[in-house]
Amino acid sequence: MNDAGSTRSPARSRSARAAALLERLAALPASDGDATAEAPVLVRAPGRVNLIGEHTDYNEGLVLPAAIDREIWIALRPWDRPEVELTSAELDETRSFRFEGLAPAAGRERSWIDYVAGTAWSMRVAGLPLQGFRGVLDSTVPVGSGLSSSAALEMATSWALAVPGASRPDPAAMAAVAQRGENLYVGVNCGIMDQFASAAGRAGHALLIDCRTNTFTPAPMPPGLAVVVCDTGSTRRLGSSAYNTRRSECELGAKLIGEREPGVTSLRDVDEAMLERNRDRLPEVVARRCEHIVCEDGRVVATVEAMRVGDLEALRRLFAASHASLRDLFEVSSPELDAMVEIAMSVPGVVASRMTGAGFGGCTVSLVEPGAEVALRGAVMTLYPRLTGLKPQVYAVATVDGAGPVVQAS
Ligand code: GLA
Repeated sequence: MNDAGSTRSPARSRSARAAALLERLAALPASDGDATAEAPVLVRAPGRVNLIGEHTDYNEGLVLPAAIDREIWIALRPWDRPEVELTSAELDETRSFRFEGLAPAAGRERSWIDYVAGTAWSMRVAGLPLQGFRGVLDSTVPVGSGLSSSAALEMATSWALAVPGASRPDPAAMAAVAQRGENLYVGVNCGIMDQFASAAGRAGHALLIDCRTNTFTPAPMPPGLAVVVCDTGSTRRLGSSAYNTRRSECELGAKLIGEREPGVTSLRDVDEAMLERNRDRLPEVVARRCEHIVCEDGRVVATVEAMRVGDLEALRRLFAASHASLRDLFEVSSPELDAMVEIAMSVPGVVASRMTGAGFGGCTVSLVEPGAEVALRGAVMTLYPRLTGLKPQVYAVATVDGAGPVVQAS
């Protein structure tokens, strides 16, 4: 499914992709649920890359992700039954569930359909009407590499299940519904960033999201810079347990500081001076986690300004500081991510580079001057396997609009 080794966006045009998916839908074997003669519907939702602001979302902080042209598409026919039957074209696997009786179950073995069912469950709990459907899904978001294929699946599902004509919550509220599904039904304790970026993305922009107020401001991408994602090809070792540990450490830090400082309910309320005067009450490891979070919010604000005025030197510095902080203070980088950033920064024309997403493996994001993409790809493809023994992927990505119906050319 992935464009292995490509520096270009998925080559297939939108219309060819739509045609292939609709053909696949039409070829599904007959079923007695096919009562409806309604025209097929196509919906899409993008993955995301986070430019800066890492692990700040669950601390009510600031993040700066962009929705990218790696997308999940679903072609579907609404049907009369209160259930979903979905075929993954990639896995050639069909799964189904009924709306009735959907409930979180502890310890369930996780599969891709849980993200779909979890979204249905959460929409129901939120009082939103659901439309049953039979569909086919197709993805160009690489799974497990930190580009938020799960959030893309959830947001595509939220459109697939929408009853035509019914009012729909705004993208921020819908992202929160999907996040609740992932937290409570699937059992993954993620923050709001990924669903928010997939729901509300805007072409040509990153989104400055305030995860305390759940509001966003589009921030124009710096003109003339390309965004290149390099996948380390390393699995996210210890991913979810280490993620949960980081969350608890941050919560403990906020609690301990809040015992002495009135009004502190999360690390969003803590600034550097406050952290310093309370450092003595924090376990050393917790103090380091807090230092990352408290300083990262400032870097997000500074990055938006550097993008606005085209200050490349500031972008370089801010990305480098974020990466070093994630490596040394928050300890979520890996030798592979560090090697990838180092290789990227040795290439002339690469302005800035850092790990992106949860960490523990996954991808880096780089801002690159025109023409330097080819050199970056060459350096990564040659040097990275030598250093790590792993096979990298390099994707130049474009920023796109958030999830919604696919508008088909007539
Ligand atoms: C994962 C989570 C997000 C966020 C990032 C780290 O992508 O799903 O909510 O916490 O990690 O910034």
